[in-house]
Formats: sequence, C-alpha cells, structure tokens
Amino acid sequence: MAFLLLTPYNSKAAGMNLRKMPLTEIRSTNPVRVPALALAFAIGAALLTGPARAQSAASEGQKLAFDRGKGNCLTCHVIKGGDLPGSIGPELADIKRKYPDRKDLVAILNDETRRNPQTVMPPFGRNRILTEQEIDAIVDFLQTL
Ligand code: HEC
Repeated sequence: MAFLLLTPYNSKAAGMNLRKMPLTEIRSTNPVRVPALALAFAIGAALLTGPARAQSAASEGQKLAFDRGKGNCLTCHVIKGGDLPGSIGPELADIKRKYPDRKDLVAILNDETRRNPQTVMPPFGRNRILTEQEIDAIVDFLQTL
C-alpha cells in the first residue's frame, strides 16, 4: 500500500511516465540508486586517505600555529605565509635542515625552558596550551618550512 502511494511522487520527480512502464521496472529504479551513491562516497573517502592525510596534518598544524588563541607563534616569529609577525624570536625558516629529528622540535614546543631557562617562549606542552596531537601537527608544519 505504501508503495502504491509513494510511487507516483517518486516517478514524477524522476520524470518518468508511469503508464507506459511495467510495474517491475518502476520498482527497480530507486533501490539501484542508493548503493550507487554509497559506492561513490566510499571511493571519495578512499581517495582522501594516504598522502592527502600527511598534507592535511601539516595544514592543520599551520592553522594551529597561526591561530591567535592557540599557538600564536606569529606574535614572536616570522613564518612564511603568516601576517603581521613579531620579531621577539628568530624567523622560523629552513627548520627541517636545522632540526632533522622531529623529537627536537617536539621538545622545543613542549618546554623550551629546558634548553634555555631564560627563554620567553611559552612551554606549550608543559602548560597544556597545546595538546600532544596539536604539537605533533605543528611539528609536521614546521618541517615543511
Ligand atoms: C613569546 C614569544 C614566542 C612565542 C609565542 C613562540 N616562540 Fe618560539 N621562540 C621564541 C624565542 C625567543 C626563541 C629563541 C630561542 C630561545 O629563546 O630559547 C624561540 C625559538 C623557537 C624555535 C627554535 C628556532 C631555531 O631557529 O632554533 C622554534 C622551532 C620555535 N621557537 C617554534 C615556535 C612555535 C611553533 C611557536 C608557536 C606554537 C612558537 N615558537 C611561539 C619566542 C616565542
């Protein structure tokens, strides 16, 4: 009964002529469309994984680094692509060559006072300004500089 009520609406939307079509054919149109759509989404999702994921971690890191309420790194550092930087700290450039081991960068972000007790750079990890995952994403970004 529900099928009979819904069919005229659906087939009108699809621009079909009900009267010319045998019942079996009408019934088969909609169920086919749903799995096809699901397949399209699955393919799309598969394309988004892999290399794209590493790139998106770095761009997430850039967002966190530039965010005035998060890393706020631009207050003190000139960073490529960032607006209105300050100059309290050194420019962050050529970082991958300078710190090939990402552990060193994680340590700097966690607590720079361990390397330099006099530093004005906030201990982002120790003070929980940034989470471990956020620091990881920022390090991914720093390694693109
Ligand atoms: C309040 C200022 C300030 C802020 C904010 C700041 N830093 Fe720093 N940073 C410094 C200073 C000053 C140094 C120089 C080293 C020192 O003081 O020990 C430094 C050094 C560094 C270094 C080492 C650079 C090199 O060439 O050896 C890195 C990497 C770094 N900062 C990353 C960041 C990142 C990423 C952020 C944001 C999450 C950030 N800093 C936020 C002040 C700051």
